[in-house]
Amino acid sequence: VPFEDRVGRLDAITRGLTLAARYPLVRTIALGAPQLARIRGAVTHYLWSALSAYFRTEVFALREDLLEAYGGRLLKLPNITPGGLVLVKEPMVLSYNALHRAVADAFAEIGLPAHFSHGLFPINVRLAEGTPNARVDSRPRASAKVHTDIWAGDPIGAVGFMLPLLGDIERVRVDWFEPRAMPDHLLCALADYDHGTPVAADAERYADGWQRGGLLMFDSFALHQTQRPGPGLRVSLDFRCVARQQVASDGAMADVPRTLLPMDDWLDYGHGRVLVTQDPLVPYTQPDRPAAGYPVVIGTRPLAE
Ligand SMILES: [Fe+2]
Repeated sequence: VPFEDRVGRLDAITRGLTLAARYPLVRTIALGAPQLARIRGAVTHYLWSALSAYFRTEVFALREDLLEAYGGRLLKLPNITPGGLVLVKEPMVLSYNALHRAVADAFAEIGLPAHFSHGLFPINVRLAEGTPNARVDSRPRASAKVHTDIWAGDPIGAVGFMLPLLGDIERVRVDWFEPRAMPDHLLCALADYDHGTPVAADAERYADGWQRGGLLMFDSFALHQTQRPGPGLRVSLDFRCVARQQVASDGAMADVPRTLLPMDDWLDYGHGRVLVTQDPLVPYTQPDRPAAGYPVVIGTRPLAE
């Protein structure tokens, strides 16, 4: 079995859970309709709070089909990185914390925290466009290239999570692949995902890892690629956790330019503490290069003394 230790770790984490899809390096965990509705509502409010704060003279209704109704305006928000990250800014602080709480509660309800020592902070909200964009898609670390998140700087021992939530999920999808092997010299951050092309070229595609209503969990060796089939928008969440069970192929845990929080602290946002930022919602002026961490200065405050 290729990657036996890594596959075994995912088996241990998903034991007893209802899976909507199961591949060696990628699992889709079924979430309950109430859990999904809470998270979907919270992410809709997160986007709505950005729209209403930025376009001060326009009316935005908080509606289920926010993406379909206001997609053009969403794409004009100033806090979206070239990679589609919808950054948290001061007007969105309250809605971020409500969203984090909804995600952390679902994570805890299905029993996942016991398997992880740390969570990467904050949770990423991503707006993906279906329309190909040569400028964006040819960037050295474009998500439209086949890659593993190790090449983006994530820890090898990290387990990734993605949750497709709104919009054209079926079309503006992420495709998943299993490499035949992962050579040691590719177990590090790469300046350009093209350096991994030999591994990506003969990887095996997983048919349907990506599904509406499922929390996708993936090993850091899983290759993936954002698909751009034509006009359409999709919103998904992504975050990483560090597995308690480290396996031989994780190697030594290198210093990573990410904010790792102990699992209990990560779970506490929106409960006993809140993320804060003073960063105003104004045009994004940072250079388009990989940020060494979250590109907004964020802090934490306790909710009660
Ligand atoms: Fe990725």
